[in-house]
Amino acid sequence: MSRPPIKIVSGMPILGPFAENWANVQRFQAREDDIMINTYPKSGTTWMSEILDLILNDGDLKKASRGAIFERVPFLEYAVPDMPTGTEILDTMKTRRLIKSHLHVELVPQSFWEKNCKVIYVARNPKDVLVSYYHFYQMAIVHPDPGTFDEFLQGFMEGTLAFGSWSRHVKGWWNIREQKNVLFLFFEDMLEDSKRAIKKVAEFIGKDLPNDVLEKIQQHTTFKAMKENKMSNYSTIPSSVMNHGISPFMRKGICGDWKNHLTVAQNEIFDAYLKKELSGIDLTFRFQD
Ligand code: A3P
Repeated sequence: MSRPPIKIVSGMPILGPFAENWANVQRFQAREDDIMINTYPKSGTTWMSEILDLILNDGDLKKASRGAIFERVPFLEYAVPDMPTGTEILDTMKTRRLIKSHLHVELVPQSFWEKNCKVIYVARNPKDVLVSYYHFYQMAIVHPDPGTFDEFLQGFMEGTLAFGSWSRHVKGWWNIREQKNVLFLFFEDMLEDSKRAIKKVAEFIGKDLPNDVLEKIQQHTTFKAMKENKMSNYSTIPSSVMNHGISPFMRKGICGDWKNHLTVAQNEIFDAYLKKELSGIDLTFRFQD
């Protein structure tokens, strides 16, 4: 696969091939018991997906190994040539659906709101998102060439990367966090105490899991366990699509790696961008452990 250019759909930059299926995404029919996992890319989507699949299956590890994470939790917007699209896969699913999406809140298909579907949103500090996204752009060939880190940082701040502006994305979801069908979580809180986060998510979807099951889920969803698990580490995808030799999907899984990448000058520019973007809104991030 070559590196297709980004396209714009409904004002949002999206991966080129994904644009072809946009009409089907917009008219997607949600079901009442669907659960959406929504994030800006690189904010903990896969981690939350694995957690939720295990919660729904009462911590049954055998069930969680029935398929790769992108099969167990299909990606709504996904569309690449010669493969079933996310909407096609979801339409044929008979069991309860966990749905991954990176859509901005205002672009979520109307049926999700009409059916009162639950949404779990995970936000991550933008400096680590930026660094993680830069590595991901390099290894996942469906993205354009990311250019230099400096160019990528500019693109991040201008909102021209796939899925657009990080701040607009996060603020949009933050503004509706108090709706009863929305749970807004932070990646850094999950890192601090994953069992607490798992319990919160389980309660949110109405599952009362005993302590031993919560602990089992916690152990199965550590960074190390997920990095070693071929059902969660994306290693079953051909290397022509995701090249783990360039950068593994499960890269570091920490808070604060940005310090190894941003220069003092880049950090100052980014801090000024954040100050502007997050002014007047009660939303703060943790940038280190
Ligand atoms: P890094 O590149 O900083 O390591 P997404 O799933 O939204 O694409 O996010 C991927 C990021 O989440 C990567 O970050 C990845 O390593 C991290 N991640 C995935 N599973 C994790 C886990 N169990 N614990 C901590 N971080 C995890």
